[in-house]
Amino acid sequence: MDLYEKRVVLITGCSGGGIGHALARAFAAKNCLVVATARSLASMSDFQDDPQFFLQELDVSSGESVRHALSTTLEKLGRIDILVNNAGVQCVGPLAEVPLSAIEQTFNTNLYGALRLIQAVVPHMASRKKGKIVNIGSVTVLAPVPWAGAYTASKAALHALTDTLRLELRPFGIDVINIVPGAIKSNIGNSASASYSKMPEWKLYKQFDEAIRARANLSQSLKSTPTEEFAEKTVNVVLKDNPPAWFSTGRLSTAMSIMYHLPLSVRDFILRKRFNC
Ligand SMILES: NC(=O)c1ccc[n+]([C@@H]2O[C@H](COP(=O)([O-])OP(=O)(O)OC[C@H]3O[C@@H](n4cnc5c(N)ncnc54)[C@H](OP(=O)(O)O)[C@@H]3O)[C@@H](O)[C@H]2O)c1
Repeated sequence: MDLYEKRVVLITGCSGGGIGHALARAFAAKNCLVVATARSLASMSDFQDDPQFFLQELDVSSGESVRHALSTTLEKLGRIDILVNNAGVQCVGPLAEVPLSAIEQTFNTNLYGALRLIQAVVPHMASRKKGKIVNIGSVTVLAPVPWAGAYTASKAALHALTDTLRLELRPFGIDVINIVPGAIKSNIGNSASASYSKMPEWKLYKQFDEAIRARANLSQSLKSTPTEEFAEKTVNVVLKDNPPAWFSTGRLSTAMSIMYHLPLSVRDFILRKRFNC
């Protein structure tokens, strides 16, 4: 296949060991040209000499960085067929005490970060009457558990935004897909633990410190699904001619969708037992 016939896929948050990195490899394996982006090029050094990848520095919390990465990509490759909003951060702590600045940073990455990319890429996709926007949500939205309220709220907002965009962008030929991972192996536990160690000492919640700290690593302590397995399934779905609006896979994804349908009193009972609160 000629280089110019390949689908161009731009993915945010492609640091080694994470979901974005595995998605980049899986799209490349399907003969896509992957614009792999991350806050630091060094975190994607294994892609460096591979012509399947075009590497870009991109911090989704900066409008300037988004504009620069998109204009460089369009100048060099001429198009973006698929945008994958994958970059994300966890935020662990009791909602009543987590500093607002930490909550704002979480929304600025997980929600506004995605929206920055979407607003920048939609004019281009609309002009071609073609494109796919893939947002990486989370199963945690289906049954929010204690100690990750800011993260869950940011992902719930992303789910809502995805549903609206699917309707609003249909007239322009753009598909919008919500990918809803279960527990997947990645660096998210380590990053969340590092951020947690910068939180202030809790006032009301001192006695819960151990349980809260454990929440940071929850997705990594549950026989989580291998990153490559998740990425391969996801890419197969995204590349379909008529991709579904919602695709959920990975450890606990079925359990969480059952939890979603339970009466709230039953769900709360189960979660209180599991999380000791
Ligand atoms: N793993 C799971 O079980 C799971 C479950 C549900 C949803 N998710 C979602 O899946 C996505 C990928 O997470 P992951 O599990 O692969 O975690 P990860 O290994 O920690 O990867 C997160 C990626 O996002 C990047 N990132 C963070 N802030 C950024 C910013 N401002 N600009 C650009 N990139 C930024 C990180 O870059 P740095 O390396 O520079 O920090 C990293 O590349 C996230 O949206 C997460 O919420 C994960």
